[in-house]
Amino acid sequence: MSLLPSRERILLGPGPSMTSPRVMRALSTPTVSHLDPQMLALLDDVRARLLRTFGAGEGSFACAVSGTGTSGMETTVANLVEPGTRVLVVVTGYFGDRLAQMCERYGAVVTRLNVEWGRACRPNDLDAALTKTPADLVAIVHAETSTGVLNPVQELAAIARAHHALVLVDAVTSFGGHPLKVGAWGIDAAYSCTQKCLGGPSGLAPVVFGPRALERRTACRSFYFDLGLLEDYWLRRKYHHTMSSTLVYALYEALSVVEEEGLEARWARHEHNHRAFIDQLAKRGLSVLPPDGERLWTLNAVRVPDGINDAAVRAHLLEQSNIEIGAGLGPLAGKIWRVGLMGESSDTRYLALLMQGLEHACAAQGHQLGGA
Ligand SMILES: Cc1ncc(COP(=O)(O)O)c(C=O)c1O
Repeated sequence: MSLLPSRERILLGPGPSMTSPRVMRALSTPTVSHLDPQMLALLDDVRARLLRTFGAGEGSFACAVSGTGTSGMETTVANLVEPGTRVLVVVTGYFGDRLAQMCERYGAVVTRLNVEWGRACRPNDLDAALTKTPADLVAIVHAETSTGVLNPVQELAAIARAHHALVLVDAVTSFGGHPLKVGAWGIDAAYSCTQKCLGGPSGLAPVVFGPRALERRTACRSFYFDLGLLEDYWLRRKYHHTMSSTLVYALYEALSVVEEEGLEARWARHEHNHRAFIDQLAKRGLSVLPPDGERLWTLNAVRVPDGINDAAVRAHLLEQSNIEIGAGLGPLAGKIWRVGLMGESSDTRYLALLMQGLEHACAAQGHQLGGA
């Protein structure tokens, strides 16, 4: 018996989201080598699409790193941080903490600006922290997937720049789902993934470096993530590693789908479906963790009602409704469900199935969701 899944799961967790049917078809395109002329043409096209989708400014370099979002994180850190670099990391949850750990591993002197889990960083707090402890680099998670919080990156980047720091942004859960304008907002480097708002499989990490970051790059201690070696491959066609043509096809198709929908329309779809979900939750007496104005459209941190066993509801949803949602991380374990409405998964049809499934799962524990 084959162990391959035979049925498409409805993926409404923190990622991966559902893979777009067009991307699934692209994945079966014949393999070519990493230096095949057809591959090289694709790389140029993907690079141009990434620059547009990131909203990168003149003189920027974008590419896709082999690996998941964490490899994008490591590429930006490995090329901007060296022993002694002063980094201020805005920590609003699990992934801000990962970013701080990564900077520490590369020898940075890290200052953490810790924010209560479930809240966004206030611009004045960053200003005060940088006045007290100047930094060469400020690192911020745009969309904190562990808490469902959207950080005001545009304002935070302006403050970091006023303090003469480079700005590094984690856009893993925002790229393609929330407005992000790397060049216009003064972001010097950013990274993302393919398996959330882009509707692809995991395996590549889009990264972008603006002109200030390219100029201030450090001597990279990683071979795999060395920006100079990646530029050698993407721009000068020099072998670095055997990049997967299959994953490049998937990214090419995913970015084509994004551009055909239009970025503004895509952001509006994510916002619309998030608001519809919040309304549906409210009708059932449920709410999300972050206050209005600090909420992600792409990832909703739903409070688990008192008396409900979080894991039993997730298991019921998976087994009875074929729907995956995520658990809380760290201090939020058992307290929230993480519901992703990202990329292909941001769709009213899936929302309706989820609400029905949640009602059944809670009823199985003797809990009727109020007023539904
Ligand atoms: C905000 C954020 N940063 C980084 C990552 C790491 O990405 P990956 O799991 O693709 O390595 C994640 C994954 O969920 C994330 O949500």
